[in-house]
Amino acid sequence: MDNIDKIDWKNMPFGYVKTDANVRAVFRDGKWGEIEVSSSEYLNLHIAASGLHYGQQAFEGMKAYRGKDGKVRIFRWEENAKRLIDSARGIFMAPVPEELFLEAVMKAVKLNEKYVPPHGTGATLYIRPLLYGSGAEVGVKPASEYTFLVFVTPVGPYFKGGVNPVDMLVTREFDRAAPLGTGHIKAGGNYAASLRAIVKAREEGYANALFLDAREKKYIDECGPANFFGIKGNSYITPKSPSILPSITNMSLMDIAKSLGMEVERRPVPFEELAEFDEAGACGTAAVISPIGKVFDPDTGKTFDFAKDGKAGPKTMKLYETLTGIQFGDIEDTFGWITFVE
Ligand code: PLP
Ligand code: COI
Repeated sequence: MDNIDKIDWKNMPFGYVKTDANVRAVFRDGKWGEIEVSSSEYLNLHIAASGLHYGQQAFEGMKAYRGKDGKVRIFRWEENAKRLIDSARGIFMAPVPEELFLEAVMKAVKLNEKYVPPHGTGATLYIRPLLYGSGAEVGVKPASEYTFLVFVTPVGPYFKGGVNPVDMLVTREFDRAAPLGTGHIKAGGNYAASLRAIVKAREEGYANALFLDAREKKYIDECGPANFFGIKGNSYITPKSPSILPSITNMSLMDIAKSLGMEVERRPVPFEELAEFDEAGACGTAAVISPIGKVFDPDTGKTFDFAKDGKAGPKTMKLYETLTGIQFGDIEDTFGWITFVE
C-alpha cells in the first residue's frame, strides 16, 4: 500500500509526511545550476558546510490549496521569493532569483500533486523552500557554494485548536531575536533561539510563547512562529518592530481588514494594551489565524481573556473566513494573490 492511502486528511497533524520527490539547485562558481529532482529524503552534506556550523541558512513556508474545482492554488509566491532574497542578503548567502524560486516550487508541487489534500478537509500541502551554505568554510565568513531545495508535506493546522482559541504564555526570560539581529528575516537561528521559550510554554500547557521586545520588554513582538494582531472596536492592530518577521499572512489580513471597512494600525503595541483588545490572534502560513483565548503573564499573575465564551470573536472569524476563502478559491480573489499550479 502506498503511504498516501494511510493518510487521514481530516485529522492531519502539522508534521512531516514523506512524499515522492523534492527539488534541488546548487550555486557554484558564481552561478545557479539546473534544478534536479530527487526522491531521496537525505542530503549529501560537506562536514564543513557553513550552513551546518555558522547558521548560514534560511527558509520559507508556503502552502498549496486544493479548490472545490480540484485545481491547486498557491498564495502570493512572489512575496515568499522576495523574502528569501532578503534573508539571503541578511546573512550573505547567494540570493535565489524569483524565476528559479517559482520554477522549483511549481515543480515540487506538481511532482507531488496527489499529496495536495482534498478540498474541505482543512488540510493543505505545506511547501518548504530552504537555502543553506553548502560550501566548506572553517573561518567565519560567507561560503562560496549554496544549495536551494524545496520539499513539500501535507499538513493539518499548526495549532491543535485549529480555529478554536489557544492560550499563550508571556516570556521575559528569553528573546528570540536581538533588536539589531536577524528577527526580520527567516533565518533558522531565530527558531533555535525561540526553543527555550516555546518548550517552557508547552510544558506549562500553553500553545506557544508571546515574546516581548528584546530591548525594553515593553512592546509585543512575535507570537511563537506567527505575528500577533489585536482587534479593538473596528480596528485591526498589529505590532511594528525591527525584530518581527514581516508576515505575508499579516500583510494580507491588513488588506482584507481595510476591504471590510476596518481601520488598520501597524505600530509598536505596548504590552498593557492587551487589556483594551476585544479579540486577539496569531497569524502566519502555518498558523493561518489562530484565535488567542488567553494570554497569561507569569510575572504579574495577570490573565488577559479574549474568548470568554470559548469561541473566536466575530471580526477574527470574518478575517479567517475571507483569507481561507480566497486561498481555497471559495471567495473571488479580487487582490490578485492566487497562482494556479498547472
Ligand atoms: N513570524 C514568524 C517567526 C514565522 O516563523 C512566521 C512563519 O512564516 C510568521 C511570522 C508568519 O509569516 P507568514 O505569514 O509569511 O507565513
Ligand atoms: C510558517 O508559517 O510557514 C512557518 O514558518 C512556521 C514554521 C516555523 C512552522
